[in-house]
Amino acid sequence: MAPWRPFAVLCTRLLVAAPHVSQEAIRKLVGDLSPNLSAELQDRVEAVLSYHFRSKHFLDVQASLPGDLDWSSQPSPWRSYHGAPRVQLPHSLALLEAASSPVPLSLASLGAFLRLGAGISAWKSYDGLHMWALRVMPSSGNLQTTEFHVMLPPLDGLAAVPAVYHFQPEMHALEFRLPAPNEFVTTADGSAGFLVALTSLCIREAWKYGERALRSCHLNLGHAVGALDAACNVFGWSLQEGPPALHADSILRTVLGLGAGSDEEPGEHPELALFVRTSARASDVGVWPAYLTAETIGKLYREAHVEAQGVPGPLRPQRPAAAPSWPAMDAAQEGAVMALAEAGHQEEPTTSGLERSALKRLLGQRLLDAILNRRSVLRMSDEQPPLPEADFLRILRVACTAVPEPRAGRLAAGTGSAVNVLLMLHKVESFLQGLYVLTRQRGSEEELFAFVKAMPERVHRSESGSPLDLPEGCALWALARPVDVRHAAQISACGQEVAGAGSFAAAFFGAFTGWRHPRRYLELLWHAGALGHVFYLAAEAAGFGATGMGCFMDDMGLGLLRDPWSMEAKGDSSSQSFSAEESQHQVLYYVTVGKASSDPRLLSFDPYQHLQEGFSYEALQGGMGRIFQTT
Ligand SMILES: Cc1cc2nc3c(=O)[nH]c(=O)nc-3n(C[C@H](O)[C@H](O)[C@H](O)COP(=O)(O)O)c2cc1C
Repeated sequence: MAPWRPFAVLCTRLLVAAPHVSQEAIRKLVGDLSPNLSAELQDRVEAVLSYHFRSKHFLDVQASLPGDLDWSSQPSPWRSYHGAPRVQLPHSLALLEAASSPVPLSLASLGAFLRLGAGISAWKSYDGLHMWALRVMPSSGNLQTTEFHVMLPPLDGLAAVPAVYHFQPEMHALEFRLPAPNEFVTTADGSAGFLVALTSLCIREAWKYGERALRSCHLNLGHAVGALDAACNVFGWSLQEGPPALHADSILRTVLGLGAGSDEEPGEHPELALFVRTSARASDVGVWPAYLTAETIGKLYREAHVEAQGVPGPLRPQRPAAAPSWPAMDAAQEGAVMALAEAGHQEEPTTSGLERSALKRLLGQRLLDAILNRRSVLRMSDEQPPLPEADFLRILRVACTAVPEPRAGRLAAGTGSAVNVLLMLHKVESFLQGLYVLTRQRGSEEELFAFVKAMPERVHRSESGSPLDLPEGCALWALARPVDVRHAAQISACGQEVAGAGSFAAAFFGAFTGWRHPRRYLELLWHAGALGHVFYLAAEAAGFGATGMGCFMDDMGLGLLRDPWSMEAKGDSSSQSFSAEESQHQVLYYVTVGKASSDPRLLSFDPYQHLQEGFSYEALQGGMGRIFQTT
């Protein structure tokens, strides 16, 4: 085997300018990777791929940033609908001790569910006075780009009709927006539950991270799906696809009563509707009434003239004088929209796109604590113990079978495999250091063999001789071992020390081949985010921690996969390749796992202290808050 060549460049200043992307090259690439698209879809996939290639980081050039941060226009992570009637939700988890599984749906269980699936996990502070909230799901820069809306049946304490509410996590409250058809809360086969619709405010992310924001925004959304699924596991509920018609952006926008927004105050972008099934039933096939097509829903709303209540409160104290604009990002978001005619119809039998999650089975009683205590590792401990073999294998099993992977519409799925994982093992018991790949579904192997220049070697047993015992369809492959990849992991993760100082780092890569719709891009990012989420939970359950990393050198990460013994040439933007052969896979996300060192300066407070009697809460700019004891 060729000797390992360390990186030539140890430290390079990142310049603020976008990598150059040739439109002509992208056009050819789209034609090669996803032939058979209509001219219109081809244009839209081009917009998406141009964005992806423009928003890459290299050693010499990085994706466009906004320049100096303008704190006066920092968006708040909290959205409120002013004037909408509010219902305070309970946040106690006591009912989980007594209730049978599945937990019956009530205001109390809904409040507890939203706490675990979308709520606050702690308030943090350095001075004990000024605090910021962490949520159960991580988000890039803690900017929290995902908003949650729920469509609920009548429950004691809520409206007497099925209705759409916006979940306001800061006050743990529901804001009544508009009534909803009964069909959305009971599927055709009689199973009951409620819809959760996710929307994005990517502007929160763009304020800080500029052009790369669309990627993080949709990775964040994937984490939100992962958090909801984990909460479902605790409640004995299951997360399934919502009615296919709601994949049409315009229909979901109407159903949620979202305004279009303006340049001054951009509106939420409708993304995804999921059904939380709370009642047990025999089959796992979600069937929606056949007449719930995009056309009939649109007609229903037009005829009923339903007005949503409440107006979105301003997201930022003032609009920046010279707001940076990100046309390539806007074009990608626009290109990825699912048009009315493209959204799925119920005529075809629809199986749930979400696998029944095995999270509870794999993590057991530790799941609840993992949800409540999950934090991103800020710094790895210097005394880094090896990650025990059993915990590492459990993380792999979770990554194989417990990832909720929502579809972005019937049309969107590609023909290539979805998201697979490059593992950079640093300190894992009974595994040699080096580069490995976890293929997560059957069929991924051939693609991998065709892409990788080294010969992957299937790993059946650990060095201790124990069988890996991975679920059907999942396999671990060694690409290069033994080799110390700590430095490679760190440099390719924008120089972030956490990537090289823990147990292992992982780069998630997705197939960019055989797309049938530009929305596939968002779908891959959602899957990567949801996968990242289970890495967090499984690491936490093992007494270790994780950090998702949206900052990575794209092609350097890809180089580690493609040419594991020599990825040196992939650091600079001049090496960017637009050939189909080299571009068929792209890196979507990084996650690092290891033992965290705690920061004694960082104080932690109870997540719902600010809502308790005897305390008062003052919201400050940018999501900061002050909590006072009044008695
Ligand atoms: C999509 C995404 C990208 C992230 N990128 C980075 C990163 O590059 N570096 C880092 O240190 N943390 C990163 N994080 C972690 C966030 O900073 C962290 O989730 C946030 O500060 C909230 O803290 P918590 O996860 O402890 O709740 C990322 C998280 C997500 C979801």
